[in-house]
Amino acid sequence: MPDPKRDELRIHAKRAVLVGVLPPDRRAERDTAFDEMTGLIETADAEVVGTLIQVRRRPHAASYIGSGKVEELKLLIESLDADLIVFDANLSPAQGKAIEDATDTVVVDRSEVILDIFATHARTYESKLQVELAQLLYMRPRLKRMWTHLERIEGGIGSGRGPGEKQLETDRRLVDRRIADLKRKIKEVEHRRERQVAGRRDFPTVSLVGYTNAGKSTLMHALTDADVYIADQLFATLDTRTRKWTLPNWGDVLLSDTVGFIRNLPHHLVASFRSTLAEARHADLLLHVVDASHPDVEQQICTVNDVLKDIGVESTDPLLVLNKADAVTDRATVDILRARHPDGVVVSAVRRTGLDKLERAVAERLGEGYLDAEIETGVGNGRLFSWLAEHAEVTGREYVDSRVRLSCRIPRKLAASIDSHDTTVTLLNGHDHETE
Ligand code: GTP
Repeated sequence: MPDPKRDELRIHAKRAVLVGVLPPDRRAERDTAFDEMTGLIETADAEVVGTLIQVRRRPHAASYIGSGKVEELKLLIESLDADLIVFDANLSPAQGKAIEDATDTVVVDRSEVILDIFATHARTYESKLQVELAQLLYMRPRLKRMWTHLERIEGGIGSGRGPGEKQLETDRRLVDRRIADLKRKIKEVEHRRERQVAGRRDFPTVSLVGYTNAGKSTLMHALTDADVYIADQLFATLDTRTRKWTLPNWGDVLLSDTVGFIRNLPHHLVASFRSTLAEARHADLLLHVVDASHPDVEQQICTVNDVLKDIGVESTDPLLVLNKADAVTDRATVDILRARHPDGVVVSAVRRTGLDKLERAVAERLGEGYLDAEIETGVGNGRLFSWLAEHAEVTGREYVDSRVRLSCRIPRKLAASIDSHDTTVTLLNGHDHETE
């Protein structure tokens, strides 16, 4: 069976020709439209030695770019001594095979490049399982072609013919078995993780989300002085990390960094995001970090909102953080962004400017979801103490005889469910309730 982990055979250290198709109304963008894909290819450790751009209304059914362009591609490959073709699009298995056969060169599409990057960056047990599953689901309908690659690369006898039907059948069965095995393991990890995240109610939680390279890890570092991996690379962060963040005039919250989002994510990967983003789903507040200096900033904001919706994060409005203010050369860009997103906070994570304003905005938003309360009860009221330990933050304690007075911050939505037996509850920013 071809091994998806042998990605170094497919992309790593290759000389790539990037192929992109633009509809006629986007013809003017031909100089920049493929910058992101170039960045992805470089992150996957290949070099872009040439680009072939075609303007056409819709992709050609059999070969995506049409047979004339495929011929041109073949000549370009030869003249540049390239050994990889990368499409900035998702190809059907048949299209990939047709282009590969015609050019005698390995073809990868957008999904495969992203999967490859994810495979290289996955660090935890869970994300490794997720990425392997996504790779296998992608590979299954393309097994025949993958085999042909390997044979060609390894110079095997019968190069180009691919495996026999029997071999393919065996491979499919092996792949299916591994897929079932991975799904089972992922379910186990997911259950464990959901329990952990949902049970962690001792501090409010804030999650950083955003387009890849927006500066989430840098911001996390600036806010918490945590040792977070930062690189000018796409998807440097694949696994969620959580750190304690002390907000002035509020107290401690847990801040999580999450994987970067990207346009046209392979749909198998969207599924794997779902669990990796358990932190974001349970967060009290999302900080949506954007690179305000990026020319496509509005499109990136929309992509992130779409992915959030896809993975079921329907949290109340995220707070928009307009990062990289220092890199914005045209002042009007920030003004336009602020006009469109009046609640957005302008910061520079690198220069550490605007962070105090961000902290105030976060405290204010979190405050909307919490109430301060004074609770007086008997020192033996174990039931109430364990409820508070689970749901509230206790900031002060005062004993008088057999009574205790607690200062707490409780989630607004749970305020009505405090067990009121032998207890007086005074909500400092709401109404009171008292009992026998
Ligand atoms: P992913 O892991 O891909 O999701 O990236 P990320 O959003 O965590 O971005 P990261 O913090 O790794 O930063 C990406 C690049 O942007 C790095 O080169 C940072 O130095 C740079 N960067 C981050 N914040 C700022 C900023 O405020 N200004 C400038 N000029 N660059 C920044």
